[in-house]
Amino acid sequence: MGETQKNLLPRHVAIIMDGNGRWAKKRMLPRTMGHKKGAETFGKIARYCRNLEIPYLTAYAFSTENWKRPKEEIDAIMDLLRHYLSDVFRHQDENARLCFLGDLEPLDEDIRETALRIQRESAQNHGITINIALNYGGRDEIIHAAQNLAKRCMAGELSPNDIDEALFSDALYTAGQPDPDLIIRPSGECRTSNFLPWQGAYAELVFMDVLWPDFSEKDFDRALEIYQSRSRRFGGI
Ligand code: FPP
Repeated sequence: MGETQKNLLPRHVAIIMDGNGRWAKKRMLPRTMGHKKGAETFGKIARYCRNLEIPYLTAYAFSTENWKRPKEEIDAIMDLLRHYLSDVFRHQDENARLCFLGDLEPLDEDIRETALRIQRESAQNHGITINIALNYGGRDEIIHAAQNLAKRCMAGELSPNDIDEALFSDALYTAGQPDPDLIIRPSGECRTSNFLPWQGAYAELVFMDVLWPDFSEKDFDRALEIYQSRSRRFGGI
């Protein structure tokens, strides 16, 4: 990637890691194998983003709706997360900051505690910020934010008229972070499925035909090229 293109890199890329099940089905493998390969792909793309010096990467790992899946599949995804979290512990030197977006309360205690510990211990790191959306739903996030702001109003800390976009943004899981510039969804589906509805209001959406486990650095480059070819006007002319 040349210098000019490097200057136009998005600050924040968010990815919906879709197509794991279809990838496995095509190979007559259990769906859980698709998630395993998907988790490896995530590691590869996260390293690639770090090398490109993209400062924020967000991945949708588990949605509030994913609890509807068979228990065996949920357990497999949670085990992959456990594995990923223990791997992160071994790579603390990489200076990445890890944040979790979502309601961690319903998760198994060991995952919740490890996630919170990593988030706490990596908070001062200056490398890439990696957000893992875990038990995340965009509407759920907005309701949580509204409830918290309402409680602060009731406590007399705030007046309803103080609530503006900046204050509302600060009540979301992504408080203090820039909004995503680019949201990538592989697997051919063309919707955002309750992923970052507030933060992604002005994001460029790139839908790609490749299934997530097959997603390569080349595909990421292609998404960046599409992003760079678009003209972002934010409502202006
Ligand atoms: C969507 O594909 C994918 C998920 C619901 C799970 C994603 C989880 C991982 C990749 C593993 C854990 C994550 C990390 C960060 C280590 P799908 O199952 O809906 O695919 P389909 O639409 O083809 O059925």
